[in-house]
Amino acid sequence: MRVNSSRLGLGVAVALAVMAAIFVADTSTDYAVAAAGFYTVVILAAARRLSARQLMVLACACILLTLLSFALSGFGNYRVGLINSGIGIVTILVTTYLALKMEAARADAQEAQARLLRVARASTLGELTTSIAHEVNQPLAAIVTSGNACQRWLAQAPPNLDKARQAVERMLDDARRASDVIVRVRGMTRGQAQQPYAFAINPAIEEVLSLARAELERHGIPVTLELSEELPPVFADRVQIQQVLANLVLNAVEAMSATPPGRRSLRVGSARAPDGQVRISVADTGTGLPATMDDQPFEAFWTTKTDGLGLGLSISRGIVEASGGRIRATNRAQGGAELVFELPPAPGTSA
Ligand SMILES: Nc1ncnc2c1ncn2[C@@H]1O[C@H](COP(=O)(O)OP(=O)(O)O)[C@@H](O)[C@H]1O
Ligand SMILES: [Mg+2]
Repeated sequence: MRVNSSRLGLGVAVALAVMAAIFVADTSTDYAVAAAGFYTVVILAAARRLSARQLMVLACACILLTLLSFALSGFGNYRVGLINSGIGIVTILVTTYLALKMEAARADAQEAQARLLRVARASTLGELTTSIAHEVNQPLAAIVTSGNACQRWLAQAPPNLDKARQAVERMLDDARRASDVIVRVRGMTRGQAQQPYAFAINPAIEEVLSLARAELERHGIPVTLELSEELPPVFADRVQIQQVLANLVLNAVEAMSATPPGRRSLRVGSARAPDGQVRISVADTGTGLPATMDDQPFEAFWTTKTDGLGLGLSISRGIVEASGGRIRATNRAQGGAELVFELPPAPGTSA
């Protein structure tokens, strides 16, 4: 916060200094040049940091300064001065208009990107629905079983209270399991973009895999976890990173649909990269990536599936790079693909 406000203060000071310099030049020259045109530099530099209204106020201030210079120089060479001031003012107006347009377009693009992210998250969760429903159903079914048993223990004469109590304990455990799943799903669906913060990557990986467990079991895919215990927390948006992981796992599942059941396997690992970043990898024994140009799978709408959207990897790359990391895909020597991404460790934890 403090860094931001002191940088803002510096920016304002620089802008004022530049404006003062232009003003002096504009006032003291004999209007051989439209010095006022240089105010556009200030307007362009400020465009990203100011609101539309603030930018218009700034433009008005520049125009007033231009007129003031004209007046202060005693209307020296009146006609040339008038023309150059006019040119300066028109330049300021046109620049302000274009800067406002540009900022509006940038805001629109950002909004569209955010909407796309939400759609993609919903579709990732959509693909996981069956798996999630199964995860909730299992404990619910177990609760019914334990409930029936409990009733039987109580109906005995005399009632077996010990057994009944054990059954109730199992019911409570299962209820907690079901509600944990809901909490995890809720965590992954939070609509708004979040702020990055420091979190441990391993539990985040395990949560995604537990939501996908039924899907993995349904396809007969055993999972090997190779999680390093000596990792610093990473600094990123946890929900988005889980979305990346879910995308990679679902891609791996789809890539292994043609692999004979006995040879399917998924390996998910976390490790420390030599440069200190935290490396997360998802390796499968599927078809491998099609032989294409390097980065093609990461392009938006590039897909080899008849019902694919081609957004999973492109969005994953966007998320990882926005977090200051990188992502790449390689084919493994023994067949199958490996997707690897790296995230920066939380500040002050790289030791
Ligand atoms: N684990 C993988 N194994 C093989 N190919 C993959 C794998 N992951 C991604 N791909 C390739 O990259 C393409 C793009 O993936 P993605 O962006 O997730 O879109 P979609 O899954 O909708 O096709 C896939 O269509 C597929 O050809
Ligand atoms: Mg995909």
